Amino acid sequence: MAVGRVRTGIDGLDEMLQGGLPENHIVLVMGSFGTGKTTVGLQFLIEGLKAGDPCIFISLEEDKDSITKNAAAFGWNLSEAIEKKQLGLFKLEPSDAKTTITRIKSELPKFVKSFGAKRVVLDSVSLLNMMFSDDNERRSNLFNLCQLLRSTGATTLLTAEVKDDNPRSSRDGLAEYTADGVLLLQSEENKEGGEVQLTIRILKMRRTAHSRRVKPYSITDKGIVVHAGADVF
Ligand SMILES: Nc1ncnc2c1ncn2[C@@H]1O[C@H](COP(=O)(O)OP(=O)(O)O)[C@@H](O)[C@H]1O
Ligand SMILES: [Mg+2]
Repeated sequence: MAVGRVRTGIDGLDEMLQGGLPENHIVLVMGSFGTGKTTVGLQFLIEGLKAGDPCIFISLEEDKDSITKNAAAFGWNLSEAIEKKQLGLFKLEPSDAKTTITRIKSELPKFVKSFGAKRVVLDSVSLLNMMFSDDNERRSNLFNLCQLLRSTGATTLLTAEVKDDNPRSSRDGLAEYTADGVLLLQSEENKEGGEVQLTIRILKMRRTAHSRRVKPYSITDKGIVVHAGADVF
């Protein structure tokens, strides 16, 4: 049976994905700071809002005001969607680990269900992981969270920072195994010097064929644009 597709709203990326993310997937968007992970998350939700889908953005990093302002700079009006109760935007405090863990573990899955959310973004799983004291706890928490999110029927994006010494691995080296898909954003020195080139590739995407090519992308005043027609290597 063909899987349903959830368009990311980034045309070139949807082309690489043969129409969009497989429905109900949990996809990790990983890259170093400034590569556009939060923007990918917002653009994904904006695409959902356009289609009338209830959406949820959970931030452990930027506060609500900063997210709303960043989105506005791309021409995306979050306040309107929040007022209409089509978008739930939540800031959780990484410094208050106990409350944040409870809210994510037990309240979030229930809320996603009752809100009827079709799209969820958690920014970032690296900060969530920091709240646990060891890898076993991190692994089991992440595994449970992913199971619960899958059971809601929503399609989820998790963002993650990469390791300093291995930009192909998330900082904790865990979420890429639990997730159904992994998108890698990188900023690479151009060989001729000067311009830094941003590139995207799909490292993993269960239950679908996809492009394995490395494609350049830009962050413009309208959001992320993947140049699917161009090749990097
Ligand atoms: N309105 C905008 N127009 C063009 N580029 C932008 C705009 N807003 C942000 N950017 C670019 O996007 C980068 C940050 O993207 P962001 O999604 O916050 O990255 P990350 O979450 O990976 O740290 C900025 O450093 C800047 O280069
Ligand atoms: Mg970010």
